[in-house]
Amino acid sequence: MTPLKNDTFLRALLKEPTDYTPIWMMRQAGRYLPEYRATRAKAGSFMGLCTSPDFATEVTLQPLERFPLDAAILFSDILTVPDAMGLGLYFAEGEGPKFERPLRDEAAIRALAVPHIEDKLQYVIDAVASIRKALDGRVPLIGFSGSPFTLACYMIEGGSSADFRHVKAMLYSRPELLHHILDVNARAVIEYLNAQIAAGAQAVQIFDTWGGALTQPAYREFSLAYMQQIVAGLTRQADGRKVPVIVFTKGGGQWLEDIAAIGADAVGLDWTTDIGQARARVGDQVALQGNFDPNALFGSPESIECEAARILAAYGQGSGHVFNLGHGISQFADPAHAGALVEAVHRLSRPYHA
Ligand code: CP3
Repeated sequence: MTPLKNDTFLRALLKEPTDYTPIWMMRQAGRYLPEYRATRAKAGSFMGLCTSPDFATEVTLQPLERFPLDAAILFSDILTVPDAMGLGLYFAEGEGPKFERPLRDEAAIRALAVPHIEDKLQYVIDAVASIRKALDGRVPLIGFSGSPFTLACYMIEGGSSADFRHVKAMLYSRPELLHHILDVNARAVIEYLNAQIAAGAQAVQIFDTWGGALTQPAYREFSLAYMQQIVAGLTRQADGRKVPVIVFTKGGGQWLEDIAAIGADAVGLDWTTDIGQARARVGDQVALQGNFDPNALFGSPESIECEAARILAAYGQGSGHVFNLGHGISQFADPAHAGALVEAVHRLSRPYHA
């Protein structure tokens, strides 16, 4: 494999010295980019993009052609895993992701099984290998999956939800059924992420988008415990380098100490937590990733620079900060504003690494 030309992102995740603070953006390949929309039209659909390693490679590289980002992220979706379990993923125009067969009855839940990666998810693994080749050592490639709980939310609700009514009904009245789903999901995620790492992913992120909707004890029992199981089951070394693991619970700022203790290398923060206070709370245990409000990209380039400066100052001196958005970039964001953010972070962060 070609040696990495820019390993700033990997070094920051391991709290090793860097020249500046690295940045990538959650959902950096997506609808806010006209070139993404053009490739998506060629592919016919979002799943058409995901299932073709050539298209997935093309769109993964698009944001890197525009901006000097410090990492690439595999173009795919967290919902490919439940799709591989037979739930039938589809995207209804303007409605987001849906499942044809949501998990509601006990028989279907008991029949749920870890999918065979080579049969059902080989297209993702092929995409990882293809992207790694196309990157040619430019920046590291991040692999990812959803957390067992976040996957379960979509599997049980059958799509996005405002109240997680079905998930919470199961959590409070039939917790053993939810635990069964979470156990299958956790084992599937371990195999899936290890296959991504074997194919060339150089860091992995677990997206726990909905863990923050739980009570504190429920978060520990139904989300965090399974992420801990995953972290313990992952390949942590590949090609003679550590493969850092990032755990991101949206709305998890209040449980930071708990999250920092599960053995991951870095914790992702949404924008509601002060990153300086977060750093004081976790100490040297983990690196931190975040936490620019994605909707601050709707401000002027001057206000974007101001916000970037505020976050860099709050984190303060030294390594261990990967700059990112606190959640995915909006489809309505102006690409020029995203570019202004990347430029500002690179320029303004240098004094913190002197
Ligand atoms: O970051 C990247 O550039 C990599 C690609 C990526 C996508 N989805 C592509 C995508 C990643 C890392 C994800 C993760 C994902 N998917 C999460 C976790 C992160 C988060 O945002 O909380 C979740 C919850 C999903 C599920 C999902 N997929 C939803 C809710 C939607 C529809 C809403 C939306 O924002 O578009 C998707 C579709 C999706 N996944 C799109 C993209 C680029 C848009 C599809 C399109 O082109 O129409």
